[in-house]
Amino acid sequence: MRDNEVAGFLAISREVFAPVYPYYAARFVRESGLRGGRCLDLGCGGGDLGLAVLGLGAFEAILYDKLPAMLVAARDNAAGRGMADRTRVLLGDVAALPLADGCVDLVVSRGSVMFWDDLPRAFREVRRVLTPQGRAYLGGGLGSPAMREAICEQMVGRHPAWANGVPPHRPGTDPETHAQMLRAAGIDDFVIEPDDTGHWLSFGGE
Ligand SMILES: C[S@@+](CC[C@H](N)C(=O)[O-])C[C@H]1O[C@@H](n2cnc3c(N)ncnc32)[C@H](O)[C@@H]1O
Repeated sequence: MRDNEVAGFLAISREVFAPVYPYYAARFVRESGLRGGRCLDLGCGGGDLGLAVLGLGAFEAILYDKLPAMLVAARDNAAGRGMADRTRVLLGDVAALPLADGCVDLVVSRGSVMFWDDLPRAFREVRRVLTPQGRAYLGGGLGSPAMREAICEQMVGRHPAWANGVPPHRPGTDPETHAQMLRAAGIDDFVIEPDDTGHWLSFGGE
């Protein structure tokens, strides 16, 4: 994403995608069984997914992105929700996380993994920073069928790529390729779950 596209993306995430973030946050917190801990939102954009997790337990969040403009928005978003004291923003690439081994309980990432250049390296990094009981959820989707329908209706008029519905995924971002890349990273205990509009990879402690 170029710098001049950031404002447009953030407006869409705020105005159109908003219901999707609490939907996935609730699912990941429920499935992980976690009641608190450190949550890392990778490729956080405006930070909505990580901040939605904060509302569901005794969590603190690290909002991580490679674009400074996204982190400015994420920091403002946290402050606007009164969550600044439980939130840290951090700049960098997913392929080299500036975090200690085993310090993250929950990794979440929506709509970003399809842009990562070196998937095995990024997946190894995610595994490295997870606590032994920690769990990661990486992928993409537009929430429930009703959410997807509402998003598609709104996006038709807002972005030419959506003229025929959800735009096709980039090559090399299919579940089979992701499974290969997870194995290349030495991760075999993963689950890939289809979503209406994408899929989610999860791995880590049960
Ligand atoms: C489509 S946006 C999704 C943002 C947010 N997760 C959401 O669902 O609204 C993709 C985000 O991933 C970030 N990103 C892409 N590749 C990345 C990488 N290798 N390391 C860190 N962030 C990355 C982009 O800068 C962008 O903010």
